[in-house]
Amino acid sequence: MKKVLVTRRIPEEGIELLRSAAEVTVSELDRDLSGQEIVEMGQGCTVLLTMLSNRIDGELLDAVPTVRMVANYAVGYDNIDLEAARRRSVVVTNTPGVLTETTAELTLALILDAARRVSEGDRLARSGGFTGIHPLFMLGMGLDGKTLGIYGLGRIGRAVARRARAFGMHIIYHNRHANSEADAELDARWVSFDELLSTSDVISINAPLTRHTRGAFDLAAFGRMRPGAVVVNTGRGPIIVEDDLADALERGFIAAAGLDVYQDEPAINPRLLALDNVVLCPHLGSATRECRAAMAVMVAQNVTAFLAGEEPPNRLV
Ligand code: DGY
Repeated sequence: MKKVLVTRRIPEEGIELLRSAAEVTVSELDRDLSGQEIVEMGQGCTVLLTMLSNRIDGELLDAVPTVRMVANYAVGYDNIDLEAARRRSVVVTNTPGVLTETTAELTLALILDAARRVSEGDRLARSGGFTGIHPLFMLGMGLDGKTLGIYGLGRIGRAVARRARAFGMHIIYHNRHANSEADAELDARWVSFDELLSTSDVISINAPLTRHTRGAFDLAAFGRMRPGAVVVNTGRGPIIVEDDLADALERGFIAAAGLDVYQDEPAINPRLLALDNVVLCPHLGSATRECRAAMAVMVAQNVTAFLAGEEPPNRLV
């Protein structure tokens, strides 16, 4: 039987399916494996089932020459050097679709929290700061009638837009190209990056990390936003330059932010930790029992298809 290394425990539904087709080793360590550990544990394996926190590059692949497939337990795959995999004829898969609605839910949670100051209010109430409601107490921004600008209108961005419309928001978006189907479904409008920055009340970052999106939200970008704007990121951390975001929040360029992803995960920039107008979530975008189980089944289906000599349903390269 072919061998599969699972670099961190995933829901049992996926493991059971894998065991029906392979000899499966699941790392017992309750932490991310280092590259060296993956190399040691991956010797003789045909498949590495990886987490988005595992960096998989050409050097690592060369050190595990029996590996023919990397099955990522995530929709994002910026942790994998696809070109290096392609050059070595290593198949790579991801888990798209099953976490769309779940990640959109968390995005809305962050938008609502940052705009209506829920976490900030919670901290204040717990620390005895609630001395009575008054007309100017903790005023936030209402969403009804406001403009949501989506940076990266893919599957998740569209699911965010659908929910935001239920809150009475108007939708604009910036992608490399306009999407007429999305325009019709969401009554949305493609805008330039500049227009997205200058006309959105809320910006939701739902783009993947690429060389085009890395660092797109820097001080110059924050400086072009509305002073009351809220920025939420459930895409990938390095799309925002965190020190610039801290500057923008401190200097009042924007009102608030909500983050689920970070430039250097799991580290969080201490300047952001010190600010009250930023909601910080520990990468919970897909963290529901239902979603993680569905991801586990999907990653296992990719592996079992590959081991059976079939085309894995979610093949990237
Ligand atoms: C993914 O799968 O890429 C998400 O970031 C996990 O929440």
